[in-house]
Amino acid sequence: MEHRPIMLQEVVEALNIKENGIYVDGTFGRGGHSTEILKQLKDGKLIVFDQDEEAIKSAQVLQKEYPTKLVICRENFRNLDKTLNKYGIENVDGILLDLGVSSPQFDDPERGFSYRYDARLDMRMDQSQDLDAYHVVNHYPFEKLTYIFSHYGEEKFAKQIARKIEQQRVIKPIETSLALVDVIKSALPMKVLSQKGHPAKQVFQAIRIEVNQELKALEEVLDQAAKCLNPDGRLVIITFHSLEDRMVKKFMQKRSTVDMPAKLPIQGLPEADYEHLTHKVIIPSEAECEMNPRAHSAKLRVLRKR
Ligand SMILES: C[S@@+](CC[C@H](N)C(=O)[O-])C[C@H]1O[C@@H](n2cnc3c(N)ncnc32)[C@H](O)[C@@H]1O
Repeated sequence: MEHRPIMLQEVVEALNIKENGIYVDGTFGRGGHSTEILKQLKDGKLIVFDQDEEAIKSAQVLQKEYPTKLVICRENFRNLDKTLNKYGIENVDGILLDLGVSSPQFDDPERGFSYRYDARLDMRMDQSQDLDAYHVVNHYPFEKLTYIFSHYGEEKFAKQIARKIEQQRVIKPIETSLALVDVIKSALPMKVLSQKGHPAKQVFQAIRIEVNQELKALEEVLDQAAKCLNPDGRLVIITFHSLEDRMVKKFMQKRSTVDMPAKLPIQGLPEADYEHLTHKVIIPSEAECEMNPRAHSAKLRVLRKR
């Protein structure tokens, strides 16, 4: 399936694009958001990041249309600071992070992200990294698997699934996505198996988050992103997971409040350097969710540098 950009209009509005500004799309994917940003730039620049080779190939195609405006970096966005420095850029007017996997990654049977196709257990967004789903499933200790499944996947039967994996892999390594689905199913009670939704969904999500160190990358980029914003610059983040959203929300709240010692006799609070523009989180319209089921869990938050 082609990737449909989530909340495109809302993202463009939130970025408040200046035609001569410098913008970063930290998660290029298939360029749905980037293309719209590029259309609005006159002499401005867009620096795009992605760690996936296929995403970078698609950015190179778009670059033919915008040779002077589009700069492509095959990088993890956790290296934002360093990478911008390489290009002599210190500050930017807006940064977009549209987290998680893209539809083409998810739908490519060979990438191993999906529980619907049989593929080697992979799930790496960055095809050059060592850690993959095979290693997680076949080598992580029971306790670590249990933590990942319950924490990242909010899986109620985390322990039971981790136990089955542990038993199964000593007999024979678990090599493919469908072999893993079978092990997961064998750990779940009948009443869970007959419920709506795929029984392996949460465990697959948890493994993907671990393989790509998604929470770590987000944690590392937040400070860097806020720091490099120009005055009136925006940090716009779309999350799809409650842990990510909580992290982003806390970060934006913290950056937009000033810590004052209690009982200090001060008249009028000093202003924080940042303003949280989405005290009420932005979510996709019902119409968008109907057209694009992947929009369902999306949440958009915006921080503005004063
Ligand atoms: C949800 S998609 C973005 C889709 C994009 N906004 C569009 O409209 O086409 C997320 C993309 O970000 C990339 N990605 C995720 N985490 C990343 C990270 N830490 N560093 C660089 N790229 C990342 C993924 O490889 C994927 O291509």
